[in-house]
Order: sequence, then C-alpha cells, then structure tokens
Amino acid sequence: MDSKIKTLNEKIALAHQGGGIKRIERQHEKKKLTARERIHYLLDDGSFEEIGILVTHRTTDFGMQDEIYYGDGVVTGYGTVNGRLIYLFAQDFTVFGGALSETHAEKICKIMDLAMKVGAPLIGLNDSGGARIQEGVRSLGGYADIFFRNVQASGVIPQISAIMGPCAGGAVYSPAMTDFTMMVQDTSYMFVTGPNVVKTVTNEEVTSEELGGASTHSTKSGVAHITSANDAQCLEDLKSLLSYLPQNNKETPKNLPFQLQDEVREQLATVIPDSANKPYDMHEVITGIIDEASFYEIHKDYAENIIVGFARLGGRSVGIIANQPMYLAGVLDVNSSKKAARFTRFCDCFNIPLLVLVDVPGFLPGTDQEWNGIITHGAKLLYALSEATVPRITVITRKAYGGAYDVMNSKHIGADLNYAWPSAEIAVMGAKGASEIIFRKEIQEAEDPAQKLLEKEHEYAEKFANPYRAAQRGFIDEVILPEHTRRKLIKGFSMLENKKIKTPKKKHGNIPL
Ligand code: COA
Repeated sequence: MDSKIKTLNEKIALAHQGGGIKRIERQHEKKKLTARERIHYLLDDGSFEEIGILVTHRTTDFGMQDEIYYGDGVVTGYGTVNGRLIYLFAQDFTVFGGALSETHAEKICKIMDLAMKVGAPLIGLNDSGGARIQEGVRSLGGYADIFFRNVQASGVIPQISAIMGPCAGGAVYSPAMTDFTMMVQDTSYMFVTGPNVVKTVTNEEVTSEELGGASTHSTKSGVAHITSANDAQCLEDLKSLLSYLPQNNKETPKNLPFQLQDEVREQLATVIPDSANKPYDMHEVITGIIDEASFYEIHKDYAENIIVGFARLGGRSVGIIANQPMYLAGVLDVNSSKKAARFTRFCDCFNIPLLVLVDVPGFLPGTDQEWNGIITHGAKLLYALSEATVPRITVITRKAYGGAYDVMNSKHIGADLNYAWPSAEIAVMGAKGASEIIFRKEIQEAEDPAQKLLEKEHEYAEKFANPYRAAQRGFIDEVILPEHTRRKLIKGFSMLENKKIKTPKKKHGNIPL
C-alpha cells in the first residue's frame, strides 16, 4: 500500500508543479500569479476541492505524447468565498501557455455542469494562448462546448470572468457571454485577432495593449466591466462583486443586518446647484443615499454619462442606475443606453431591486448618434426596464425631459414607486427650446424678440419646470425632500420585498439588439 500511496503523492506533486519551476518564475516575472496561487488567494482557506487533477491530453501529433502535464493546463474545482459555494476554473499559463485542448475544455464543462445542477456562481480565471494549436478542430469544438454552456447558464447562475493574461481569438467569446468581465491592468489583453493579423489585414500598427488591453476595454469598447491594478486586487474585487449577488436566479442576495433609525441625510439638501445648467456629481447623491462605503461601480470609465453599480441600502443589495450630469449633462446616448440596459437585465435575472436616479436632459442629438443607431440602442434600455420585474424605484433629482423621462424608469413602464425632489423639472423639453417652438410667432412679432423669449421661457418654466404637474397626475407618487430620500427608499424596497409579477407566457422577448 505504501508504494501505491507514494505513486499517488508523486502524481499530485507533479500536478502542483504545473509547467515546472522555470515557467512559474517566468509567470512571476510578468507580475502574474500562477493558477494555484490565484485560487488560494480567492477562496476561503482550505476550502478548495480540486476535480480532475490527473486529467491529461490525448494528443499524439507533433510529439505531444511525450509532453504530458497532469491537469492539462487548467485547475478546476469548487470551494467557498466568504462561506459561499462557488465553482471555478483557473487556466495555468505554465502548461502550454494555458492553451485550451479537448480535455482542458472537458474539465471546464464538467465544472460548469456541476455549477448548473447545484445552482452556484461560476468563476473563470482566464490566462491562455487560445486554442491548443497541436489539436486543431478538437480544441475549437471544446470552445464551442463551453460557449453553449455559457448560454444555458446565462440568467440561471452568475458567471464572472477574470482576464488575467492573454485571451485571444475564439477564447474571447466565453467571457463575453458571461455576466461580468474583469481585466488586470497591463498584464491582460483580449482581442479577436492580434496585432500581427491587424497589420496584415488593415495595415494598422497597434500594440497588444492599445488593441485590447484593460484600459482600452474599460474606456473605449466597454468589454471590461471592472479593471484592477494587479492579480491580487482583481481577486479582491471579484470577492466584493460576489457579495452583492445571489447564488442563482431562484434566490435573492443575502441582506446584511440592519436596524432602521431616523436615516436623515442632511448633506443631500445641498447637492443640487441653484442653476439648472450647473453640473453636479451624481456620485454625491448615491453616497448620500446608500449604506456607508457600499458602492461597487461597474463600467466606471465607460459611458460616464450614466453610472451603474451595486450598493447596499438598509443592508439590502440593490442595483443603481443614475444619469451623471457631470458628463455630457447626463444625456442618454448609444453607449450609456447599452451600459444601463445590460446592467438592468443582470439585476432582473438575479432578483436585485433597481434604484434609478434621474437627471436627464434627453437623448444626444446628431448624425453620429443617429447613424450609430441611437434609436435601436435607446430602445434597449426602454425594453430592459419595461420587462424588469424586480422592485423598481425612481427618484428624479432634477431634469426628466422628453422621451428620456419615459425611458428612465417612469411609472408608465412599470416602476413601483416614483419620487421627485422639489428641484425636479419634468417636461417635454427645456423651457428655452419649448418657448422657441410654441411661442415662435409671438416672439418674432414682438418689438424686442429677445426680451419676449425670456418672458415666455419664464412663463413655461413656471408652469412645467417642476414636479407638480406630474404629481397631480400620479405619475410621481410623492415629492420628497432630498434629506429624507434614504429613509423613503429603505422603506419602499422593504415594502416591495414580496413583489410578484405574472408575465405573459412566451419563449423569449425580442429585445432590439
Ligand atoms: N497552443 C499551444 N501552445 C501554446 C499556445 C497555443 N495556442 N500558445 C502558447 N503556447 C505555448 C508556447 O509554445 C510556449 O510553450 P513553452 O513554454 O513550451 O515554450 C508557452 O505556451 C508560452 O508561450 P510564449 O509564446 O512563450 O508566451 P508569451 O507570453 O511570449 O506569448 C502569446 C503569449 C499568447 C501571445 C503567444 O504564446 C501566442 O501568440 N500564442 C498563440 C495565440 C494563438 O494564435 N492562438 C490560437 C488562436 S485561438
């Protein structure tokens, strides 16, 4: 028996070595942790249970029969994060550059199947040179097996991808179909085709970092939802993200203990500037409302005219969508509509209530927006909010103009509670634009047209640039003082806790993509 145990231990020790000391050192030189170090960092101490440690590839081409590594370039298993079960795979760049073989893919699929059967989040730590070149189409088939499972799992269990090294070619499509893609600054990149192919096809000279580094994807493309400074920070960020999510679509996120007190937040009374055209930072409103230091922002540097993220409100996990008057006056455009729509759908899939803070002058005009399909993309947000069945509360802090009023979680599209601050202006458009249209003749014929315009603007503003017309119709449930907002919201979400909506039976809707 002793020799048999020795054999087993030797095999396990070999598996733990991955591609060997030299390659591990190279990984460290690149300021990257190894797959096992990442797992150790992410999971609760001693909670990791590995599955498939002795799996090897079956390839015999190109002398591969002599290059066998236990685990085949990916460490898979389950464990806990702050006591909660998760399933994970971590690609091991020290073994064939983490390249995906048929067996490597089978290991990932096995974990995905378990996560689906049990109903727990799936975490992928990606660090891979892509399809295992020696295996050809078998490796491509392996990718497709994973993609298919990503789609089956979508909306059933949370799926999070951390990109902690290369992720190129077909490999990018698994993270793209998961709920969140995280990237590590300077050491990760994602692209469909690398700089060499780009040069051949389009004659563009571009570095990997410019083409698909973390800063590119967090500012330009929006592919990355979260960017972290290094591996350790990325895993910390992943743990924080998980804390806002439930295990699966049948559960709700765990509430933290909370005792309602007076909850008055005086600082909110002075956030809105006296002039309607002066910007302010909507983050101040968010921090003024939520539990201390609980905001977890998603897509922080992308489409900054809208803010989305998770927070705790009276211990409850909520998703926040908020126009940001600091950027483009908080206008809705193609990218901000897509960003908010995707976030809305995630929250709705996983029973996370939505708080929508509104200060929106309308949709961004212009050929650029029209030619890039603002109609279709704006409709995404309208559609996503209209179909969301989670508790939904709106607070209009200042402007709610035109179609954007409807889109931003208005009563008419199913919001449960709609509040407005006394500073709210709910109208078809701003007073100047409106007066120029409806009083055009009167203004033209006036002795002093500029003066007349001012008078008419004032008249229009008096009538419509306030929340009271909407409140009279019941489109706004209550006009509340900013300092009381937190209390109203905590009570509102608590009241809505058992909200249930029956939706018409259908295969799936047809969101304008
Ligand atoms: N299939 C098989 N082995 C691969 C591989 C792949 N797709 N990608 C990398 N490897 C191996 C390398 O042969 C090398 O092996 P070694 O340790 O025995 O020398 C090891 O992984 C590390 O690769 P290396 O090129 O030395 O690392 P790097 O950090 O300099 O570059 C990449 C990383 C990903 C940029 C580079 O390896 C690469 O371009 N790989 C191919 C990417 C690709 O085209 N994939 C297929 C399309 S999906």
